[in-house]
This record gives sequence, C-alpha cells and structure tokens, in this order.
Amino acid sequence: MGAVIVGTGSCLPDRVLSNHDLEEIVETNDEWIRSRTGISTRRISSRGEETFRLASVAAERALEMAGIRADELDLIIVATMSSHMSMPSCACFVQKELGASRAFAYDINAACSGFLYGLDLVDKYLCADREKKILLIGAETLSSRTNWKDRNTCILFGDGAGAVVMEYRDTSRGVVASNLFSDGNLWNLLYMHSAPSCNPDLTQPDNPGTHILMEGREVFKYAVKAMQSAIVELLAREKLDIASIDLMIPHQANIRILNKLVSRLGIAQEKVFINVQKYGNTSAASIPIALDEANREGRLKPDDVLLVCSFGGGFTWGATLLRW
Ligand code: UT7
Repeated sequence: MGAVIVGTGSCLPDRVLSNHDLEEIVETNDEWIRSRTGISTRRISSRGEETFRLASVAAERALEMAGIRADELDLIIVATMSSHMSMPSCACFVQKELGASRAFAYDINAACSGFLYGLDLVDKYLCADREKKILLIGAETLSSRTNWKDRNTCILFGDGAGAVVMEYRDTSRGVVASNLFSDGNLWNLLYMHSAPSCNPDLTQPDNPGTHILMEGREVFKYAVKAMQSAIVELLAREKLDIASIDLMIPHQANIRILNKLVSRLGIAQEKVFINVQKYGNTSAASIPIALDEANREGRLKPDDVLLVCSFGGGFTWGATLLRW
C-alpha cells in the first residue's frame, strides 16, 4: 500500500442534453430512457471543449486540492478513447495546457475500464519510485463518437473528465489491491471503428469518422456477472467481507446494471455512489468524476474502504480496493 490520492477534480461541459431534447432527435421518450437506464440528462461538449480541455480543467482542480504545482508533476496518464487526435496523445496536450514541463505523458485505452487500469499502473509506478508525483485522468467526449441516429446508443453517453493526483505515502492508506480482466474474444459486442490499420492498395483512405456500436442486452448480462465475480474474488483474496466496504463507486453505465450488482453483492444501497442520472455513461471519466463528487460532498473519511469497479469494451473489467 502507499499510492494515495491527494487531490481530486472534475470538469463537465455546461451544455445539458435532456431526455426531452433527445425526443427531438430520435424516436424515444423520457419515460423509456429513465426506466431502462436511469439517465435523465447528460453533458455535451461545445466547440472548443475538446477532450484535453476538459481533462486539463479537471487536472487543475485536482492539483489545487493537492497543493501541488503542475511543474512538480513527473507523469501524466490519460485514460480515453475519444482524444481529438490519434497522435499526439491527449496526455501531451494536457501537459502543454498545464505547463507540466517535467512530466512525461501518455494515454491508455481500456474503454470504460481505463481509469481502473490506470490506478493499477500508478500504484506500480509509485511502489517502484516513491518520489514521483502522478496525475491520472479519465476524459471522454463521446458525443463525438455517437451515432445520433441510433436510439440504442445515443441516449446513453455523455462528455466529461475527472482527475486524481497521486503520491506515495508511508501509511496503510492508498490502493490496496486490484483484480483486472480482459476478454478480446467478445470485442464485437461493444466497439468503435477507427481509420483502417492496413492499406494494401496504397490509396488515400477516406476517414468518415467513427461511432460506438453495441449489443446492449448482451453487454448488460456480461457486465453484471463479470463485475460481481471480480469483486467477490477480490474481497476473498483480501479477507474482507462486503460489510467492510464504506463506499462503492461503480462505473456509471446504467442504473439497472448497478441495481442488479448491488442486490447480488448484498451491499447497502446507501453505500453506493450513483450519479448516472445527471451525466449518463462517460466511459473512462465516470469513476473519477464520481470520486471527485463524493470527495467534495464529504462522503469520504480518512481510512474509509472504497470499492471501485467497471466494465467496458474489450471486454475489459475489474475491481479495485482503496483505503482513503
Ligand atoms: O459502459 C459499458 C457499456 N454499455 C453498457 O453498459 C450498456 C449495457 N446495456 C444497456 O444498458 C441496455 O441494454 C440498454 C439501455 C442499451 C437497452 O435496454 P434493454 O432493456 O436491453 O432494451 P433492448 O435493447 O432489449 O430493447 C427493448 C426495446 C426494443 O424494441 P422491440 O424490439 O422490443 O420492439 C428496442 O428497439 O426497446 C427499443 N428501444 C428503444 N425504445 C425507445 C431501444 N432503444 C430505445 C430508445 N427509446 N432509446
């Protein structure tokens, strides 16, 4: 243990897209969306609110809370699948925006599980080098990766960013353990094309843009089962029971997935942090946004045991325990 979160921050675009607004775009209705997903509104980036800009504002807020200057950072990692460029990385743009001149910077992509994978990575960096100061961000602008004619998906996603600053502390606090998984065999249940990665005819390829495709019902079934088993295994390994969890912060995809998971785990509903109704599914950003809200609302007390879990395209999934 020792990789401690010393500051949190988040940034949501101002523009709110309600279920009623969506009724004007596709054949749907507020009642269907709320009862099937729990979502009432989501945030949408306006021009100039690219992924790296949301990420940078979230980062500034986390740095301020941590009392650390950007030029003291050693490393910036951004979990995203919606950077405004494939190269350079979103993290390099954040480094530039912040003026984090000493930091090296790169992106990771594990879809909705990106932040969880990032926590594991930062934990390992900090255990190897206790002097490092690391910024970990989850940031997405999925409005730019959504087919706004597909009612099966366009009602689900939203934009936003969340950030944490992490340092090594010689205490029992910090990342306790992670239990992470991937299964590439199931890639075709949830995916997003990019520009082709081979061009044998040496032609100038069209790049018509890209959007998320999903078999919602299948994803739903796998999500509940996979997160449940990752959590049960992790708790058993750490010799903890579900009653010892003070707060659970799950990836915010769908209230029905969360309710099923919560009832199977037997955790008290009031110990589960939920904000999917406000922001929809913000993929890699959902956990750090929720973590920042929980922190700023005073829901996290020193030594609280936090359980974080996620499921996303890949498939990628897992669970992590932290002592606050
Ligand atoms: O971050 C992880 C990634 N994603 C997820 O976790 C999403 C997992 N899946 C889900 O959340 C749910 O499967 C959805 C919310 C996507 C869909 O809910 P569902 O209860 O599985 O609905 P369904 O796909 O089985 O569709 C039921 C009906 C269909 O009509 P018919 O075929 O029964 O006549 C759909 O065409 O609802 C229809 N439908 C809609 N109706 C109104 C689908 N989307 C809509 C819509 N408005 N937006």
